[in-house]
Amino acid sequence: MHVTVKTGQPESVSTDCLIAGVYEGGKLTATAQAIDKASQGAVKAIMKSGDIKGKAGQTVMLHHPAGLACDRLLLVGCGKDDAMDVAAYHKVVKAALTAARGTAAKEAFVCLGELEVTGRDAAWKARLAAEVAAQIDYRYDQTKSKKETDLPSLTKLQWWVADATEARSAKRGVEEGTAIASGMKLAKDLGNLPGNICTPTYLGEQAKALGNHYKNIKVTVLDEKAMEKLGMGSLLSVSSGSRQPAKLIVAEYNGVTSSARKRKPVVLVGKGLTFDAGGISIKPGAGMDEMKYDMCGGASVLGTLKAIAELELPINVVGVVPASENLPDGNANKPGDIVTSMSGQTIEILNTDAEGRLILCDAITYAKRFDPEVVIDVATLTGACVIALGKHASGLLGNDQDLIDALLDAGRSSGDRAWQLPLWPEYDEQLKSPFADMANVGGREAGTITGACFLGRYTKDLRWAHLDIAGTAWDTGANKGSTGRPVPMLVQYLLNRVAGKK
Ligand code: BES
Ligand code: MN
Ligand code: ZN
Repeated sequence: MHVTVKTGQPESVSTDCLIAGVYEGGKLTATAQAIDKASQGAVKAIMKSGDIKGKAGQTVMLHHPAGLACDRLLLVGCGKDDAMDVAAYHKVVKAALTAARGTAAKEAFVCLGELEVTGRDAAWKARLAAEVAAQIDYRYDQTKSKKETDLPSLTKLQWWVADATEARSAKRGVEEGTAIASGMKLAKDLGNLPGNICTPTYLGEQAKALGNHYKNIKVTVLDEKAMEKLGMGSLLSVSSGSRQPAKLIVAEYNGVTSSARKRKPVVLVGKGLTFDAGGISIKPGAGMDEMKYDMCGGASVLGTLKAIAELELPINVVGVVPASENLPDGNANKPGDIVTSMSGQTIEILNTDAEGRLILCDAITYAKRFDPEVVIDVATLTGACVIALGKHASGLLGNDQDLIDALLDAGRSSGDRAWQLPLWPEYDEQLKSPFADMANVGGREAGTITGACFLGRYTKDLRWAHLDIAGTAWDTGANKGSTGRPVPMLVQYLLNRVAGKK
């Protein structure tokens, strides 16, 4: 869907589908009131009939309402008549656009920017609409022999704002929303592809394609030989059990302005485990197919780079994606094996299924060569995080509270939230090994925290945060598929950095 920003009088606009909000208890938004007046009470009448009560997300469609120039009038429930929160607004916009998309309307004129959302401005609302529009359009058909032919008619959205000042900020909002959605689409597509197609080599090729498309992104893909030279014994131990060679993908985005060029980069490190069978500590069979999503951290890093390249943000960002499979094989890691990481620290691998940290630690050590301002790693690291936080929030830990607060804030405003867990030194003791500098697992207790503690041993001289996206990166059940998270949070964080917030 293509989104444009419009001013004017909603009640007199000629459109396939006019969309306006009504509140619970019979109260109308300003636009709905104007529409009601122009249509001799059509809005109040339908509310009186009880067909729409105004509950958030409820919709009702009127055809050719008298006195109006629109073919359809779609009324959307907005809940109670007071400022809504981010989640409620998302629900209302999504319900409205989904309902319009289900009709034969080719374009729609959407008057939902007038709703009050606590602490959010016109740009934010327009951005959310652009994001939602792209999200409900998302389809995965890359591995289906028959493509969907019955495509929806709705291809154009006109986002109504009150005046020219609002129009300016709403336009920027639409640009940002469109860029975030396009980054999310890349992340979703890569996530949804099966492990036999989306291999480490394929991920590297897709990153290269990104680099060819955007002049500000330079991509280098290191092969196993190069990684051996660098001493990445931990990362390479994971790929030793696989026929697919590991890759280390490095994508450097450089902002266009000269001041941006001089600034230290933000480094994003994303777990790119293209299939995680667990290795010799093999996983149970049920649901194992979902471990094709174990590269979603890496995919979100590439998606974030795509979004900021589209927006040409004046900032430097480096994406580092260690990519590998984790399979059982005669040459695979065995419980008790000891490997030496690039940092020189030795690791006793007590569970070969705790492989994410093994590839991330070497990627983080490699990231130091970019002299980063901050390092944020993103990984589907622990099943324990799904148990702790479910699918609503990503786990967030780190050694720099300012960075963590900035990410929490970006999560709240983008609706892609995280929740902080403690990283106290007491937990780190669970990683003690009698035979190496550390074990790769710390027992059943606090699995998400000990996973982060492990990475903490490689980030002592960095400002670092860790996002555990095991619960948020993909959906199961009827909506099974990659979510594109945490692209919105990461892009928001970078936008805030550019705007001068931390
Ligand atoms: N990729 C998994 C984590 C995971 C599991 C994410 C289920 C989403 C759903 C990771 O590599 C893993 O296997 N972690 C182990 C760690 C354990 C052995 C300490 C886990 O969570 O069981
Ligand atoms: Mn694993
Ligand atoms: Zn894994």
